[in-house]
Amino acid sequence: MRKKIVAANWKMNMTQAEAARFVESLLLELGDIADVEVVIVPPFTAIAKVTEALGKSQNIKIGAQNMHWERNGAFTGEISAALLRDLFVRYVVLGHSERRTLFGETDKIVNRKVRAAHEATLRPIVCVGETLVQRDKGSVEKILSIQLHGSLATLGAKELQETVIAYEPVWAIGTGRNATPEQAQEAHAFIRHTLREMSDETTAERVRLQYGGSVNPENARELMSQPDIDGALVGGASLDPRSFAQIVLSAREEDKTAAPSATV
Ligand code: PGA
Repeated sequence: MRKKIVAANWKMNMTQAEAARFVESLLLELGDIADVEVVIVPPFTAIAKVTEALGKSQNIKIGAQNMHWERNGAFTGEISAALLRDLFVRYVVLGHSERRTLFGETDKIVNRKVRAAHEATLRPIVCVGETLVQRDKGSVEKILSIQLHGSLATLGAKELQETVIAYEPVWAIGTGRNATPEQAQEAHAFIRHTLREMSDETTAERVRLQYGGSVNPENARELMSQPDIDGALVGGASLDPRSFAQIVLSAREEDKTAAPSATV
């Protein structure tokens, strides 16, 4: 049984004061929720504040949005896995499409980072996904296969099992146009199939696959009730604690039998 994992990717938003207020409200909404894994992914500058605001709560974890693959050294402006660990960070988002398109990250670079993350016992959330042009050309599976093989190259079964993969179709990110549950499930099933080929059945069954791209409180439940969708990576809707809390709550297993979402 894969535990659902829902992450708030704040991108380049949230001052320390805003982050503290967010966590305060989120804790009121969720308490120290244990049946869904919740990860807050602030900008580097708000990480310490989020940790402080979380106080004694055990189950809400912290992630980072990026890192460098080297352990330390002369890399002005970069952050290493060890520096993130020093801030109690547990997860790191790698290969987000914004990093790939705006900052030139290739699968090879993503792979170096993924391996460095594991070495430092940080769990990577590796993003993959096609552009609209690639989808229209019918190349979704080809692109996903290239990205998965490239980004996850040389990982052993244990490392793969401790990796989260986020399927984020580029055309759905920040556009308000989410993939339909069927489109998302189809891509997720293909990702799991590829993991089976790259590793083994047990490993493929254990890896958690998040969907990301315009997830909101209205569409979250239906998306996450698909058999191969094990959570969500949420951008825009994660900036509001109420919306994000609703998304987290709709990941609960008992909610699978609840009424279909309001979008239907
Ligand atoms: P969005 O972003 O929810 O605003 O579409 C998702 C992401 O980029 O992770």
